[in-house]
Amino acid sequence: EEELHAIVHLPKVELHTHFEGMAPPAFIRGLAKEKKVDLSRIFRPDGSYDYRDFWHFLEVYEAATSVLKSPEDFARLCTAVLEESAANGVVYQETFLSPDFCGGGDVAAWKEYLHAIREAATVAERDLGITLRGVITCIRHFGSDQARDTACCAAETAGDFITGFGMGGDEKKGRQRDFSWAFDCAREAGLQLTTHAGEWNGPSEVREAVEDLGVERIGHGVNAHTDPALLEMLAERGVTLEVCPGSNVFLGVFPSLDQHPIAKLRKAGVPVTISTDDPPFFHTTMRKEYEALAKTFRWGEEDFRDLNRIAIGAAFCDEATRSAIA
Ligand code: ADE
Ligand code: ZN
Repeated sequence: EEELHAIVHLPKVELHTHFEGMAPPAFIRGLAKEKKVDLSRIFRPDGSYDYRDFWHFLEVYEAATSVLKSPEDFARLCTAVLEESAANGVVYQETFLSPDFCGGGDVAAWKEYLHAIREAATVAERDLGITLRGVITCIRHFGSDQARDTACCAAETAGDFITGFGMGGDEKKGRQRDFSWAFDCAREAGLQLTTHAGEWNGPSEVREAVEDLGVERIGHGVNAHTDPALLEMLAERGVTLEVCPGSNVFLGVFPSLDQHPIAKLRKAGVPVTISTDDPPFFHTTMRKEYEALAKTFRWGEEDFRDLNRIAIGAAFCDEATRSAIA
């Protein structure tokens, strides 16, 4: 009991969140009302987001982002999500930012959105003690041409706040290698790389992400667990998995947390970290993740301290930031 209390209240490092995916439903409903957009179809009577499966989730996600229009809307979102994350004990967070939703991939427009988001993040860092870094993210089902524009936005704004480049979206569309140009462009701009792989596809997707794109982290990657040689490769190269257990269970990747391979992945020596992905969509928070993992796998405080050390080590930030959060 006492140990569970200590675990839930640990300072937490979270590497895998989608910025718009952290928007509370009430926040999106409020914006829809202000802008006189009818979004009733994406909400349940109890006010939560309504969708049937992952692919419908992506549609509802895009509908929700459609009311986030101005840089000010994104600044307000930033304040709201950092308050919620800080309340969960998160001290360092990385979030996927998609220029597709912020000016449609136009570099000049993107810079205005980014400026507004950064200002809000700076205020939150001062007032709430949470540090945010941005990972610019292309969206796989939007295709590789749009991903090039996204990579150009990333290259133009790479620096102390935009520190990474990634890809989310529908893993069933196209191949990782279709996005080589975008990832090469981002790498040349000094960005660190991650991509969603092995959430919906099998282990070969994870292997392709590492071999074809040269990423140092993988979003999810959990389906690697059926391929021992791949696990060895991930462990040896130190490719870190951004595991989102609550997201996986809610979306039905695994039937329940006790059947989730996270403990097996850790045992295989793969660097594993814990994140929420899109917390209100999956009815989760970092506290809930820690509590559920502690109970299901009987992990103690030292396990969670270890997971946080791994996350700090794999964070896309400079050494000064790393030592400040350690
Ligand atoms: N976009 C937002 N959440 C996602 C997820 N879990 N997988 C892929 N794309 C996403
Ligand atoms: Zn994700």
